[in-house]
Amino acid sequence: MKGFLEDANYSIGLLDEGATLADVIDNCIYEHTQTGKRAFYVGDLGKLVKKNTQWQNVMAPIKPFYPVKCNSTPGVLEILGTLGIGFACSNKSEMVLVQDLGISPENIIYTNPCKQASQIKYAAKTGINIMTCDSDIELKKIARSHPNAKLLLHIATEDITADEEMNMKFGTTLKNCRHLMECAKEFGIQIVGVKFHISSTCKDLQTYIHAISDARCVFDMAEEFGFKMNILDIGGGFTGSELQLEEVHHVIRPLLDVYFPEESGVNVIAEPGCYYVSSAFTLAVNIIAKKTECDKLLPSGVEQTRDDEPVFTYYINDGVYGSFASKLSEKLNPTPEVHKKYKEDEPLFTSSLWGPSCDELDQIVENCLLPELSVGDWLIFANMGSGTLGEQSTFNDYQRPLIYYMMSFSDWDEMQDAGITSDTLMKNFFFVPSCIQLGSEDRFSTAA
Ligand SMILES: Cc1ncc(COP(=O)(O)O)c(C=O)c1O
Repeated sequence: MKGFLEDANYSIGLLDEGATLADVIDNCIYEHTQTGKRAFYVGDLGKLVKKNTQWQNVMAPIKPFYPVKCNSTPGVLEILGTLGIGFACSNKSEMVLVQDLGISPENIIYTNPCKQASQIKYAAKTGINIMTCDSDIELKKIARSHPNAKLLLHIATEDITADEEMNMKFGTTLKNCRHLMECAKEFGIQIVGVKFHISSTCKDLQTYIHAISDARCVFDMAEEFGFKMNILDIGGGFTGSELQLEEVHHVIRPLLDVYFPEESGVNVIAEPGCYYVSSAFTLAVNIIAKKTECDKLLPSGVEQTRDDEPVFTYYINDGVYGSFASKLSEKLNPTPEVHKKYKEDEPLFTSSLWGPSCDELDQIVENCLLPELSVGDWLIFANMGSGTLGEQSTFNDYQRPLIYYMMSFSDWDEMQDAGITSDTLMKNFFFVPSCIQLGSEDRFSTAA
């Protein structure tokens, strides 16, 4: 594999036997407490390797194409590239990132439903041919900018319980697929497959049954038009839980065997994003300000706050204009853990958590029970790997959290045994003989 991000300057701490994620967090907090208390992530890259093994065990031969927008940090992309999975890119910057990693164009798909013509031209120039399409306007734009494009028709699903807005906006009807095929014939564009996406919050796995049989209809329709289709993209929506993966597999496998058997030559692919990265990253944030009930100015005539009003309001140094951006579009309930030790019988108070922007949208947790905390205390959020990591935010002088990558020695050993390695990846590892040195290792961190 070609060298990736030669100058990205990141390192992966290889932990001595017995050292844990909690030790890494403790030591980073110890160091940060001396040096300005900046928020930071710890990314356990061993988890990505484990997720991939789980994927291969349960879902093979469905090939994963990781959506780069989920987390485009260098450690994640390099590990996933080394694991040999493909990438789904939504813009030119993402394509450049994975191309710099040495990923070949056949392993990259361009999945933005609303592509910029200049970026389609970039894909054409660099041989990225497979892209999704769900409207005739998009199809004509692609035909003009990339005559060799190979389209996956993005069909809508019935996932209205979960991702209503997403489904209203993206994905087309079966009826319109016929129209798109007519257009493709007229413009000389190839159609090579179908894509759908069912979000992880969809409660009804029957949705997969309808989506896969709809996909079969589109394949049949394509035959009438003389298109040779050979890709079915079942999208993302895998939470990361092994149980959910097995449940989805249990529903889709018999259908795939009937509608897209191996001898049909159809390659089934997927776009698992959260699945790979969510649980791998833990965020540590610092309390920068605190307000109590007494600090609140009550409206005239009101003498007491309501019972469900938070007793304490804490402001932390990361918020919706940073790591909690998905709070703005999804119903998320991040759960904070208090880092410092406190007694089991210590009283708990209704508390709310806010980001540093002083903006009314910047609420992270409306209501949770916490012991009384002080400015300077740390809170920990697990499962923070999917969202804004790798994207830039410029709001309010926001200081991006640092990232500390780590891997346990046993995960590293497993990776070696499985022959998963590359010279450039290997040179980023450094052995951490004792956890005490983790936070002080200069090479160890990179900004999110
Ligand atoms: C519209 C859309 N959103 C999100 C994703 C990624 O989903 P997740 O991170 O839940 O796997 C995909 C992948 O197909 C997608 O098509």
